[in-house]
Amino acid sequence: MNGDERGRRLVVLTGAGMSAESGLKTFRDAGGLWEEYDVMEVASIEGWHRNPKLMTEFYNQRREQLAHVEPNLGHRILAELEGFFDVGIVTQNVDNLHERAGSTKVLHLHGELTKVRSVRDETRVRDIGYSRMEFGETDTDGSPLRPHIVWFGEAVPMIAEASRWVAGADIFAVVGTSLNVYPAAGLIHDLRPGTPAFLIDPNEVALPSKSHFTVIRAGAGHGMELLREKLMDLFPAPDPRQR
Ligand code: OAD
Repeated sequence: MNGDERGRRLVVLTGAGMSAESGLKTFRDAGGLWEEYDVMEVASIEGWHRNPKLMTEFYNQRREQLAHVEPNLGHRILAELEGFFDVGIVTQNVDNLHERAGSTKVLHLHGELTKVRSVRDETRVRDIGYSRMEFGETDTDGSPLRPHIVWFGEAVPMIAEASRWVAGADIFAVVGTSLNVYPAAGLIHDLRPGTPAFLIDPNEVALPSKSHFTVIRAGAGHGMELLREKLMDLFPAPDPRQR
């Protein structure tokens, strides 16, 4: 970040609602994924040990679906905001729609669908794009491969970095997350007091009683249009002649 951007660090925490308008289901809404599947069967480390074949197939299906959806207006506006702010996105989403919309600073708290890794060494990560991972496939070191997803019951390796991003934010926004899952949901407590904060969600989201969020009750696309307007009013782009 250079000096011109001081005071313009925008950090955005996103969840499944961010990608809903692209056609990806959220988890906890009516009709969400956790109505169709048992979360502990397909998204927990115990589930992996019990039935890795089922879990491999679950993530193969999610990856296949991802190949056929596109970033939505919300993702695109967030990417465009890089022209005006130093934008950092902390996402709980395992899709790649922020990157495909053009965002360049994205921290994936819960892993990435397009990657797999060795079960023994979490640093041996491999990009497989939208192709299938076959159950029983191994890494070059002979270790079995697994989806590069952070499951319930596992540590969240990127949480300390995410916490630093949030603590360093000059402006903060939350888009499309029910704030039910920790430690991600706890990130809002890392904000410096007085940091302007916004929340976009079409439904009510429980926030801590003393928080000072401006709530935009809308879906991600329209919500991001409204947020962009507010940010442009509150933080006009620096006049290049005064640099
Ligand atoms: P949830 O399904 O818990 O919450 C989705 C949120 O998106 C809700 O608050 C909805 O109201 C909101 N929403 C629905 N439609 C929307 C739209 N069009 N625009 C904006 N918001 C909309 O999903 P997350 O909070 O992301 O983890 O869930 C967190 C974690 O739980 C996920 O990363 C996943 C899941 O289990 C793992 O699988 C490890």
